[in-house]
Amino acid sequence: MNERPNLPNDLDSFWMPFTSSRAFKANPRMVTAAEGSHYIGVDGKRRIDGTGGLWCCNAGHANPKIIEAIQRQAASLDFAHSFGQGHPLAFEVASRLVALAPGFDQVFLTNSGSEAVDTALKIALAYHAAKGEGTRRILVGREKAYHGINFGGLSVGGIGLNKGQFGTLYPDAHHMRHTATPENRFSRGQPLQGADLANDLQRVVDTYGAHRVAAVIVEPVAGAGGVLPPPVGYLERLREICDAHGILLIFDEVITGFGRLGTSFGHQYFDVTPDLFTVAKGVTNATVPMGGVFAQGHIREAFLSGPEAMPDLFHGYTYSGHPLAAAACLATLDVYRDEGIFENVTRMAPVWEDMLHGLSDLPGVIDIRNTGLMGAVEFAPDGAPGNKARAIYAELWDLGLIVRPIGDSVAMSPPLTITEDLIGEIGALIRKAAAE
Ligand SMILES: Cc1ncc(COP(=O)(O)O)c(C=O)c1O
Repeated sequence: MNERPNLPNDLDSFWMPFTSSRAFKANPRMVTAAEGSHYIGVDGKRRIDGTGGLWCCNAGHANPKIIEAIQRQAASLDFAHSFGQGHPLAFEVASRLVALAPGFDQVFLTNSGSEAVDTALKIALAYHAAKGEGTRRILVGREKAYHGINFGGLSVGGIGLNKGQFGTLYPDAHHMRHTATPENRFSRGQPLQGADLANDLQRVVDTYGAHRVAAVIVEPVAGAGGVLPPPVGYLERLREICDAHGILLIFDEVITGFGRLGTSFGHQYFDVTPDLFTVAKGVTNATVPMGGVFAQGHIREAFLSGPEAMPDLFHGYTYSGHPLAAAACLATLDVYRDEGIFENVTRMAPVWEDMLHGLSDLPGVIDIRNTGLMGAVEFAPDGAPGNKARAIYAELWDLGLIVRPIGDSVAMSPPLTITEDLIGEIGALIRKAAAE
């Protein structure tokens, strides 16, 4: 018999992502269960999940309909691939998804946000090549952007620490400046100034020629870079420049997708339509990994002129459209619709904004940013970069709230089911932690 040996419960074997193993081992913080807007720790303590998992548990934890759908699916079709054959659930997922995004015809399924981003970038390059414009190789990203950790996403990403260990990545990646300017501190929602920063894209065009620029990718609201809503007019200006020069506009909606701003997708909230956009996280309420790239019809059509027997796109993952993820996605979409989850965001966003900006009198606070149910409170640096936010994070963990330290900011993205009372509790806990 192949029984598992009785392994010691050590903390060494798991190489944790984005973690200082020494700091973690000195003070391991772990959870064992979750329900609604709370995690339950190994210490038995309930903590408010101020980060919705990691910007992903939009309907809260342990929704019974999603759990049941996954369990049922595991017992009927555990796996089937989609390479030249298929299974109906993946098709159902794709049609349900595009129905939420008028203007988009198709979705390419992946397993994560990083894969979705790299897929979108590859689609952009292949699209231009298919149209006979193979010189378009430049991919433009932005400082402070987070587009996951695969080679393409890292190349267009703009968080230096994430890139430093890996040398040259995609050689034709360029970056626009970020939009976190001092004059926009404490903006409620979209900052009023800074639309002109989108002209950085025009500078790339002017420098290299439009015939060399394939695509620009931005998060409608930069998330892991510290919650940076776009300045009023910024996304519109990007769209204009793209239209003028045949450049594809890609929105990375891994965080802003599935109700984070109160609409199905962030581009609907800002009323600017990209050519391609990525999703992940909330697409299955984070229960089973899944991501995707939505494409407008004109993108898809460009791929239909090759030999009929050949794949349209030489790209795909063993688990693209995995049945368990597909079942989780369908149940999640039902829950979002039937439980009015996105509507709650529209109701709660002003309460969230007032709570956050009510913290502006706390000692050391130098900026507060928000949109939809995303927010960040930034503190003046205290010693090494990030010290202050890590200290507040640790204090809040002890007090019963989980936040995400990013630089000197603490970022939050609670489950979209959050109530007014819980928002009040979050504010009170941050006030207490900052005082201590
Ligand atoms: C905007 C954005 N893109 C891509 C990713 C990467 O997603 P994943 O961690 O699922 O690969 C993230 C993750 O936070 C993200 O915020």
